[in-house]
Amino acid sequence: MKLLVVGGAGYVGSALVPVLIEYGYVVDVIDLLWFGNELPRESRVINKNLFHCGVKDFEGYDQVIFLAGLSNDPMANFNPAVNFVSNGSLPSYLAYCAKLAGVKRFIYGSSCSVYGYTVNELYDEEAPVTCSYPYGISKLQGERGVLQLQDKDFSVIALRKGTVSGRSPRMRFDLIVNTMYKCAIKDKKIVINNPSIWRPILHISDAVSAYLRAIQADYGISGVFNIASDNCTVGQVGDLVKEEVEKQTGQKISMKIKDIKDFRNYKVSYNKAKTFLGYEPQHTVSDIVTHLHQHHEEYGDFEDDNFYNIRVFKKLELKEQI
Ligand SMILES: NC(=O)c1ccc[n+]([C@@H]2O[C@H](COP(=O)([O-])OP(=O)(O)OC[C@H]3O[C@@H](n4cnc5c(N)ncnc54)[C@H](O)[C@@H]3O)[C@@H](O)[C@H]2O)c1
Repeated sequence: MKLLVVGGAGYVGSALVPVLIEYGYVVDVIDLLWFGNELPRESRVINKNLFHCGVKDFEGYDQVIFLAGLSNDPMANFNPAVNFVSNGSLPSYLAYCAKLAGVKRFIYGSSCSVYGYTVNELYDEEAPVTCSYPYGISKLQGERGVLQLQDKDFSVIALRKGTVSGRSPRMRFDLIVNTMYKCAIKDKKIVINNPSIWRPILHISDAVSAYLRAIQADYGISGVFNIASDNCTVGQVGDLVKEEVEKQTGQKISMKIKDIKDFRNYKVSYNKAKTFLGYEPQHTVSDIVTHLHQHHEEYGDFEDDNFYNIRVFKKLELKEQI
């Protein structure tokens, strides 16, 4: 089977593509390489702006996986216009091209950010989406646009991922568990902005397995699926990171608790993905920390700009490369 991963050179794609190759898929990637290229040589990497792609770019592929666009709130808030076109409109345009090219399935990398500030109940895919900030709205627009194209010959799956964390060949330290791990190692201190806020946390290996399950699902399956490893409060995440880093390093880690308001608070049910895709998370927050620490020698300077999407994005905009 031939797969095209658009935005596949990013954090999630750099972990996903090697696994897809291992499974015997032929994998091509289209990506602007904002954060470089850590992909295996077995994948064909095309350095191209997706806004410049057309139907021809999608010919010959069985499935397309969308991992592009702006991938966090700071980027979306910094340039809302680019955010709305990249996350809201671009996925619909690419799914439209893919469908015309005869692709059988489009998988959209969505986000649980669409839920907004909820009332501490477990949300499934039927629950109201209340986001009112650029990133969440744009991911919702992206989802709705691509799902509009679904029919009996074109399957569309949107994976609403929780906050992904863990080690990837293209590393990020601006994601909840990764940030806390970095602070614990570097400063011996974890700062919790608001301990009562809920977040679904997703180990990067569970994210990879969710994409695998979606690729392998019967072509009759389409729809939106929540994907998480576990739901935790930010305070719980802090405690787990502290405990695991102390265990791994033998050093004492202190905690600082703040009371800063957040505009996101949600916990999600992933039962639908279990039932329809056979998705089964295998990892905990402690596993994420173990995974991160196993690779600690490769990170070098934790403050390298490349680990922080917003820093790279601001530099690209200065050079007018956005
Ligand atoms: N990382 C998370 O915690 C998380 C959680 C939920 C959803 N998501 C979604 O999953 C997807 C992947 O996330 P990630 O963390 O790997 O993101 P990332 O920022 O690491 O990677 C995005 C990639 O897309 C490429 N790209 C962006 N715009 C492009 C364009 N116009 N043309 C070509 N390439 C372009 C960039 O070069 C980059 O390599 C994103 O759509 C994100 O919104 C991520």
